[in-house]
Amino acid sequence: MRFLVLGAAAGGGLPQWNCGCPNCIDARRGKIASASQSSLAVTLNGRDWAVLNASPDIRAQMHRCPQMHPRALRDTPLASVLVTNGDIDHIAGLLSLREQSPFTLFGTSEILGVLAENRVFDAVSAAKVTRRALEIGQPFDLLEGLSAQVFPVPGKVPLFMEGETVETDLVGEQTVGVRLSDGDGVAYYIPGCADVTPELLAILEDADQLFFDGTLWDDAEMIRSGTGVKTGRRMGHISISGAGGSIAKLEGLSANKTFIHINNTNPVWQPDSPERAFVQAAGWTVAADGMEIST
Ligand code: MLT
Ligand code: MN
Ligand code: ZN
Repeated sequence: MRFLVLGAAAGGGLPQWNCGCPNCIDARRGKIASASQSSLAVTLNGRDWAVLNASPDIRAQMHRCPQMHPRALRDTPLASVLVTNGDIDHIAGLLSLREQSPFTLFGTSEILGVLAENRVFDAVSAAKVTRRALEIGQPFDLLEGLSAQVFPVPGKVPLFMEGETVETDLVGEQTVGVRLSDGDGVAYYIPGCADVTPELLAILEDADQLFFDGTLWDDAEMIRSGTGVKTGRRMGHISISGAGGSIAKLEGLSANKTFIHINNTNPVWQPDSPERAFVQAAGWTVAADGMEIST
């Protein structure tokens, strides 16, 4: 399996259009690398690609990657797209893929339901783009020879569908992780996750490669930085640091571990920060746009 990080950042990207936090300022100045929004591409043969989550930046992401360019008059190496939740950073890019090239769109019934309820997605022609509903735990071919299955991870409904009260650790079809296997290696992709439960830990045991939710360094990051009023927990994202954080909870996994879907406020974006040093010392990599990882 060959992975290509199309977008390492969480929703908003780095820099985010309306943000003047230190990371966004540094990214605008070119002092640190910019990053686009949450998406990971995978291929076995280098010709056919699947994209995990279609970010609003997908047009620029595909433009930047020669591997994703058309090889004929109307053509695309993109064979399939899988969406892991209904958040805008994971579905809005579908609207940029509406120009009548066939591919398969995979998601759970609940996530495909979000698209069905929002008629603007009818622009992604059902005649060309086959929507395939996934059953939890049922293997399917994401690409020829690349077996995948989805499993529930703690999360919540998309931000734009939140009601008065919000359950932030729903385990169902609204937020899923993906297991990928080519018969040799096993990789997991979990860009949004509210908690690492014992059930999730058991699933991840056979991982050779893990791409995991690196949204926030700590739960109060948005509040402390003055960029938001919500905790990470309220946003449906476990933090990297702390006793209940992802580094501590996933410590026992021998997999190659990569943080992805990283919010622009996260101090791990700074290459010289103590937080980056901590993450690396714990054996984790911080994803960057264009990063390639083979399993
Ligand atoms: C998230 O990951 O929490 C969402 O992408 C937030 C959003 O939709 O802006
Ligand atoms: Mn997101
Ligand atoms: Zn910012």
